[in-house]
Amino acid sequence: MENLWRYISCIVFILIHEVYFASATLDPMEPNGNITVKWDILSWTDDGYNALVTISNYQQYRHIEYPGWSLGWSWRGKEVIWDMLGGEATEQGDCSAFKENNIPHSCKRHPIIVDLLATVSNNVKIGNCCRGGVLSSTVQDPQNSVAAFKMRVGAAGTSKNTVLVPSNFSLKGPNMVYSCSPATKEQSSHFPTPSGQRKTQALKTWSVTCIYSPVLSHKTPLCCVSFSAFYNNNIIPCPACSCGCHDPSQNQPKPCLKEIPPATTESQSNMNTNTTEVRCTHHMCEIRVHWHIMTSYKDYWRVKVTVMNFGYLKNYTDWNLLIQHPNFDSLERVDRFNYTGLTQNNHRNDSAMFWGIKYFNDMLLQAGEMGNVQSEILMQKITGKFTFNNGWGFPHKVYFNGDECMLPPPNVYPWLPRTTTTQRILSGPAFIATILIGALLFIYLYWAYIMQRRTLPF
Ligand SMILES: *[C@@H]1O[C@H](CO)[C@@H](O)[C@H](O)[C@H]1NC(C)=O
Ligand SMILES: *[C@@H]1O[C@H](CO)[C@@H](O)[C@H](O)[C@H]1NC(C)=O
Ligand SMILES: *[C@@H]1O[C@H](CO)[C@@H](O)[C@H](O)[C@H]1NC(C)=O
Ligand SMILES: *[C@@H]1O[C@H](CO)[C@@H](O)[C@H](O)[C@H]1NC(C)=O
Ligand SMILES: *[C@@H]1O[C@H](CO)[C@@H](O)[C@H](O)[C@H]1NC(C)=O
Ligand SMILES: *[C@@H]1O[C@H](CO)[C@@H](O)[C@H](O)[C@H]1NC(C)=O
Repeated sequence: MENLWRYISCIVFILIHEVYFASATLDPMEPNGNITVKWDILSWTDDGYNALVTISNYQQYRHIEYPGWSLGWSWRGKEVIWDMLGGEATEQGDCSAFKENNIPHSCKRHPIIVDLLATVSNNVKIGNCCRGGVLSSTVQDPQNSVAAFKMRVGAAGTSKNTVLVPSNFSLKGPNMVYSCSPATKEQSSHFPTPSGQRKTQALKTWSVTCIYSPVLSHKTPLCCVSFSAFYNNNIIPCPACSCGCHDPSQNQPKPCLKEIPPATTESQSNMNTNTTEVRCTHHMCEIRVHWHIMTSYKDYWRVKVTVMNFGYLKNYTDWNLLIQHPNFDSLERVDRFNYTGLTQNNHRNDSAMFWGIKYFNDMLLQAGEMGNVQSEILMQKITGKFTFNNGWGFPHKVYFNGDECMLPPPNVYPWLPRTTTTQRILSGPAFIATILIGALLFIYLYWAYIMQRRTLPF
């Protein structure tokens, strides 16, 4: 019976996930968020051109982590890449048509370019390159939100009119896929010279806009949220199977580890060869965010937010958390996290982004004693709106590293004790249903009683 229930709840949650991810195309928290790829032709060569390709992350809270971005496209003609700076093609492809002493860097029809590591020698570096593919978000680290590489393209058009724009751009990060627009002609980019007195200009500029696609990324959810409050002893856990189920009666139970392995080098090397990545929990999420309503003062209230890593294979460098709560427009103080209110076109500022402080808690370590970060958030109660009723004190949306977290359903939020609880029951549909059923039962019993009296002889 219990298994059946688990099974049903898993199915329900899988359905909810599918519906949610299929419907989410534009990010509601950041409708204009995108990564823009600029393709600047800097000079013509005998058989093609020199290009600078710049990848700019215009997203406030979504970044690309190590091992980093990869950018691909399809050549329209027989183009090759003679050589590259600040990046490399993952495959050379078939260059057999070329002479021995003059072999291109890549002859692939669909080249995929990745970033170089910071440790490469200086003579292959250019500005904004060589960060192992890491592309930071604009809020957390604007300086590192741009990546670039240069390449010498051959067997291509050698003038503005004969050059062919590549098509079929693709941009990927670890566990994330962006969907990219076709390249469009842009106003030529300008480049300031080192003296600062003069600007040079690209001979031709194309640009491509890439938008994060939860549908194409279609990974299992990463995170879930649990709640508690000082006025109620119950902890509201993450929804069961938020990120999968490990129930062996399932078709594809997610593997997991029953307990934290001892932190010896031996078990660590074992773990690397094992597919088991997370600790066994009823939610099976790698990340759990806990929101605890801690204290209520006269004019202020305090919340403790804890982010916990249940995964064994990953430290989250530069993690971030995005939370939507109506009281965030009166955020007073945040301990131990860096934060900013997020601004949007529609000027709603009920969303705030939180991230770690450099060299202190900017890295969320793998599961274990240290695998968590926490903060206390002090807010001024908004007059006229603030209440502990109806779960108002809990967040509406939570994202970890840009991934939406599963929230408990609203009907299980911790209730206030006493009066408010009864109010809630009295106004709920359950109450109306109870009254109706009660009334029907009463009428039936009364009718039965009357009938019985009639048939009795006395
Ligand atoms: C991409 O982001 C930039 C910067 O926010 C914005 O100006 C531009 O309109 C966006 N592009 C699209 C297609 O949304
Ligand atoms: C687009 O690129 C993919 C590889 O990234 C390739 O398999 C596919 O054939 C390309 N499509 C076109 C129309 O070139
Ligand atoms: C991998 O994990 C499973 C448990 O899920 C365990 O039985 C197995 O021994 C592990 N393998 C290694 C190499 O650690
Ligand atoms: C995470 O960081 C800790 C401390 O720096 C290190 O001991 C551990 O090996 C790292 N884990 C992974 C999976 O990189
Ligand atoms: C929200 O907006 C108000 C006024 O526009 C501003 O004073 C406040 O600092 C903002 N809050 C956040 C969290 O950005
Ligand atoms: C908070 O983040 C901003 C932007 O990245 C940074 O300039 C500032 O130094 C950070 N503050 C702390 C205390 O880390």
